Order: sequence, then structure tokens, then C-alpha cells
Amino acid sequence: MIIAVTGTPGTGKTGVARELARLYGYKYVNLNRTAEKEGLVTGVDPERHSKIIDTDRLGELLVPDDSVVDGHLSHFVLADIIVVLRTRPDILERRLKKRKWSRKKIGENLEAEILGTCSSEAFESGEKVLEFDTSKGSGKKAAKTIKGLIDNNEDTEDIDWLEKYEKMLIR
Ligand SMILES: Nc1ncnc2c1ncn2[C@@H]1O[C@H](COP(=O)(O)OP(=O)(O)OP(=O)(O)O)[C@@H](O)[C@H]1O
Ligand SMILES: [Mg+2]
Repeated sequence: MIIAVTGTPGTGKTGVARELARLYGYKYVNLNRTAEKEGLVTGVDPERHSKIIDTDRLGELLVPDDSVVDGHLSHFVLADIIVVLRTRPDILERRLKKRKWSRKKIGENLEAEILGTCSSEAFESGEKVLEFDTSKGSGKKAAKTIKGLIDNNEDTEDIDWLEKYEKMLIR
């Protein structure tokens, strides 16, 4: 089984993906690093100081079976399950403010979380999607709960911050 762990930066992908890999005895795959190795980084965004990754080609990327793929673009990789981590925008803002990022970059990422960009892209893939709220708790606990959901083939309720946090978009 291939599990993709996606979500806006700061939603806790790395901790959750590492613990999920440990619990299943799967390989942990850092997608940014793999994309770099496979030549899928096509440039650098001068404004955002972030790598530009060819998302079309991520769909052809060969990921080993029995792995957990960590990355905010992992929903473009062929997977059996996409786990989308979601964090309440006000809490995510606190996490992102601890990074040495520009206000603009923080704002863009908060906007993506409020609009649910990763989730919509994940749902467009047609693969099974589990949305999970990582506003509280820890990555370890989250991974344990997520494993339970996967093993019992349970569904999660969709998460939508837009109605309650729309105000944060126009600041
Ligand atoms: N329930 C939770 N699940 C996961 N992380 C949580 C949770 N609650 C709090 N956190 C904390 O949130 C932070 C999120 O981690 P991090 O910023 O590495 O996320 P990320 O999604 O891997 O980001 P990036 O895309 O930049 O790699 C960590 O400090 C983690 O301890
Ligand atoms: Mg990470």
C-alpha cells in the first residue's frame, strides 16, 4: 500500500508520515528530496524562494510499494490513500509565524489552508481521501488514529474552514 500524506506546510506531515511509516513498517519517502533526485524540480520561484516541481510528472513517479510519502504535493503521486492534514487557520498561523518566512508567504499558505487547496486537488485525483484535523494533539497520536481509520476502512468527515475563517483572507 502507498499512503500519501499531504497538507499545507505546518500541518504536521513529517511527524505524521514518519510515525505512520514506523507503525506499518513501511518506507518513509520525502517527496521534495525524491523530486529533486528524479529531476522533477524545474526551477526556483524567485519570489517565494521555493522549488518549482513538475506536478504532472509526479503522477509517473515510481514510489516503492509499502511506503508513506511526505510532501505538500504528495497527492499528485499515485497512491492508495491520500491523507490530507488540516489545521485550524488561526493555529496554523501561529505555527507558521515561528518560521522565518515573509508575511506574504505565510499569507499565501494560510489562504491555501482556508480554501482547502490540497484537499480539492486530492479529491480531484479520484483516489481515497481521508481528511484529518491536526490542530490539537501530536503527530504520534494523529498517526495512530489515522492508522485505525485506514485499517478499519473508515471515512472521515470533510473539513471546511472557509465559512468560519473567511475573514482571515482579507487582511
Ligand atoms: N496533531 C498534530 N499532528 C501533527 N503535528 C502537530 C499536531 N499538533 C501539533 N503539531 C505540531 O505542528 C508542527 C507541524 O510540523 P511541520 O511544520 O514540520 O509540518 P509539515 O507539514 O511537515 O511542514 P512542511 O510542509 O514545511 O514540511 C510540529 O511542530 C508538530 O509538533
Ligand atoms: Mg515537513
